[in-house]
Amino acid sequence: MTAQLPTSILPQALAASSKIMDATLEQVLPKPHGLHARVHEAMRYATFAGGKRLRPFLVLNSARLFNVDPDRAARVGAAIEVLHTYSLVHDDLPCMDDDDLRRGRPTTHIAFDEMTAVLAGDALLTIAFEILAHPATHDSGEVRAALCLRLAEAAGSNGMIGGQMIDMQAAQSSFGSDEVVLLQRLKTGQLFEFSCEAGAILGQAGSEHRDRLRSYARDMGLVFQITDDLLDVTSTAEKTGKAVGKDKDAGKATLVSLMGVEGARAEAEKLARRAIATLKPYHNAVPELCELPLFLLDRES
Ligand code: IPE
Ligand code: IPE
Ligand code: MG
Ligand code: MG
Ligand code: MG
Repeated sequence: MTAQLPTSILPQALAASSKIMDATLEQVLPKPHGLHARVHEAMRYATFAGGKRLRPFLVLNSARLFNVDPDRAARVGAAIEVLHTYSLVHDDLPCMDDDDLRRGRPTTHIAFDEMTAVLAGDALLTIAFEILAHPATHDSGEVRAALCLRLAEAAGSNGMIGGQMIDMQAAQSSFGSDEVVLLQRLKTGQLFEFSCEAGAILGQAGSEHRDRLRSYARDMGLVFQITDDLLDVTSTAEKTGKAVGKDKDAGKATLVSLMGVEGARAEAEKLARRAIATLKPYHNAVPELCELPLFLLDRES
């Protein structure tokens, strides 16, 4: 059984961090202006659509471990959230997953048009690095450069983009679980790894902390993506705010197609327990991070 803890502190903690993040995102995203206002409107449309704000939650909580100024952590949270949002805007395009529904609303290319969605995605990606490089994110230029470097690695062709490339080829391939796990570690896991490590970078913590947080994130990213694939099979568009049944229709191998619903769930639970064990030294400081893997396993959206 993988029952969520009956007295979970997470729903409240996630809601509180979403509120902080919405305020920070409001501040950092340009207000629509000028002849190019349409691209700002599309950036805001995609961002303020009620996502779970999970990656910023990881940034805020990993930063708390090292007593980082919460405003600085929120800026880094905003950077990863806009970058993640760009990845969704492009993922939904007709040339990729061709989806009409995202976060419970028409996707950006449906609400606007394809050209605007491509540009809004490009701009969300670019502004992520502008936010990180800005002096308000940290006094130390070295810390700001380290954040930019890690995000570029996590989001680039050996990170999330690499994962998307493999994913796009998954339908035509006979992938086994090794290939699927690699795909997921890249397309989803890398942004989770950045989010957890970012707190330690901001706090100028040693490599032992950075490694521990990354290793936790690696397992949890996989738990998260296995659950996404499970929801694609077991849930509804009403609950998830996006189309379901897509992976099967596309003939894509996932751990669910390879191991079955029960097998994939058991694998995710094993990984969740390992993630929790990795974080044991921090349990008292950030119980939120320790509860998260099992909470994510039981998520419905
Ligand atoms: C969706 O991510 C894309 C995946 C990596 C599975 P989320 O499920 O975190 O999406 P939002 O941000 O809550 O909309
Ligand atoms: C998308 O994965 C992951 C990224 C955008 C990096 P999916 O295609 O499985 O995400 P959903 O199911 O559309 O949210
Ligand atoms: Mg996709
Ligand atoms: Mg998709
Ligand atoms: Mg999916």
